[in-house]
Amino acid sequence: MSRALATTNPKTIQALPSQLDPARMPAHVAVIMDGNGRWAKRRGLPRVMGHREGVEALKRCLRLCSDWGIGALTAYAFSTENWNRPGEEVSFLMTLFERVLARELEALDQEQVRIRFLGDLEPLPSGLRQLISDATARTAANSGIHFNVCTNYGGRAELVHAARRLAERVAQGEIDAASIDEQTFAAELHTAGERDPDLLIRTSGEQRISNFLLWQLAYAELHITDVLWPDFDQQALLAALLDYQGRQRRFGGVDTLPPIPT
Ligand code: IPE
Ligand code: IPE
Ligand code: MG
Repeated sequence: MSRALATTNPKTIQALPSQLDPARMPAHVAVIMDGNGRWAKRRGLPRVMGHREGVEALKRCLRLCSDWGIGALTAYAFSTENWNRPGEEVSFLMTLFERVLARELEALDQEQVRIRFLGDLEPLPSGLRQLISDATARTAANSGIHFNVCTNYGGRAELVHAARRLAERVAQGEIDAASIDEQTFAAELHTAGERDPDLLIRTSGEQRISNFLLWQLAYAELHITDVLWPDFDQQALLAALLDYQGRQRRFGGVDTLPPIPT
């Protein structure tokens, strides 16, 4: 991963904590950033203040993942079901995405982050769509962490979209139905080209996946923490990674390496 940013950016790089085994880091971390509303409510603030603070947590998490050599971070920012929220909250979120992207793009690019937005982007406000397309093009060739922001993302919608695309290709005689396998299917998902997440973190204690990466999480290790997303910090990420490194991943087979003693 490029460290060229150290010369162009005064930010210091956080060293990998000594408790973590550098050889057993997840290559791809996915996160369901939940609990913004509750964070705000506990402080007697409007829910949207939790979203604002949630942006700071995401920036912190991205930089730590990048510094610690994690290849990809995929964050759930807005689900296909989140349109059911009150209109003011939805518009606040759309404006927030737009402002944050405009403000942070320069730094993200300098830090070699490759940003992509996964989901059905059509229904998003046109200003946001324009920024997304600029940010994606500008950072496409960057050599650093892959930062995927799931926006108007739904796992079921993604699967239906992939099925429809394959059906169209069969109808056009481009491919043979019998040739469709897991690889050709995965290539039609928004995550095409990205390896599956090794670790899924969900904050705020909810024990569900809420329509997130239904295909890709097939063998992810799950870490659920009571920490509310705006409070998710270095210690919380370290706890998730230590939990991950203590797991035996079997992929349906038998034991491989023993867990690292802590
Ligand atoms: C997650 O926090 C952010 C989004 C879904 C956009 P919530 O807004 O769901 O916070 P809680 O779950 O109500 O506390
Ligand atoms: C999941 O959180 C979606 C995002 C984090 C963007 P929700 O708060 O929408 O999920 P539920 O409603 O608790 O399942
Ligand atoms: Mg929630």
